[in-house]
Amino acid sequence: MNYRHAFHAGNFADVFKHVLLTRILLYLLRKDGALRYLDTHAGVGRYDLAGDEAGRTGEWREGVGRIVGAPAPAEIAGLLAPWLAAVGPVNPEGMPMSYPGSPAIAQTLLRSQDRLTLCELHADDAQALAANMGRDRRLKVLRMDGYTALRAYVPPVERRGLVLVDPPFEAFDEFDRMTKSCLEAWRKWPTGVYALWHPIKDEAAVDLLHERLRAAGVSRLLRLELSLARPQRDGRLVGSGLAVINPPHVLADEARLLLPWLAERMGAAPGSRVRVDENPV
Ligand SMILES: C[S@@+](CC[C@H](N)C(=O)[O-])C[C@H]1O[C@@H](n2cnc3c(N)ncnc32)[C@H](O)[C@@H]1O
Repeated sequence: MNYRHAFHAGNFADVFKHVLLTRILLYLLRKDGALRYLDTHAGVGRYDLAGDEAGRTGEWREGVGRIVGAPAPAEIAGLLAPWLAAVGPVNPEGMPMSYPGSPAIAQTLLRSQDRLTLCELHADDAQALAANMGRDRRLKVLRMDGYTALRAYVPPVERRGLVLVDPPFEAFDEFDRMTKSCLEAWRKWPTGVYALWHPIKDEAAVDLLHERLRAAGVSRLLRLELSLARPQRDGRLVGSGLAVINPPHVLADEARLLLPWLAERMGAAPGSRVRVDENPV
């Protein structure tokens, strides 16, 4: 487990994932019924953008740094506003001072009746996550394998909610493990919403993920992708996607508005691509 998200927090792939995460949660919050948010690979919750790790890569400057304060058409600004509120205050240069990871975004948006289950396997990160989330009776931080948690905590008592699966993709079989674990969870809880983040380095692997979900009987599936360039030979990350099972019915339209604008702002190069596909094969 070498991956540390602090080096990448707030980069273009985080912006893509977190803007969509915010839109999914806001849709689920339209109903009063309590919901569960399960984050299988939670990270530390909030990231210091002035810290050593963020400073060493500077990735956030090409991501959230290009979005905060950028003038956007009204419709897009309206969709981005709740995520920007979670990002929080800016410094005198207009740059964000910290960056909220997925747990902090959910913590900001969810209500008193909702519950958060946050799993992080790395010992130091699990400790930092608990500290960053503070005292909050709605949430539990668990130092455990996210896929084991997915098996143990689904279906949740609330019977409504979202599972975010956001592994580091260090293991060669991560796509396979993610697919199998999510399908097992979906069979136990077919009405839950599942958002599966993945890198786009090998397009065939992404095609296979969608093919396997479809073949297993997942009929409501949305393929969302944002790539700033063609996959790179050196393996550098330039694109990522979310496969959303049981997506809110408004999400595809919102993504069609948001993703091209985000790609443009974050430096779309030749070969860049946005994909919003409601019937992926
Ligand atoms: C991409 S980061 C998560 C980012 C976070 N979801 C966010 O959006 O802010 C992946 C995290 O998974 C953790 N991790 C790695 N293997 C894990 C496992 N088997 N179970 C749970 N967490 C794991 C890593 O330590 C890392 O913090």
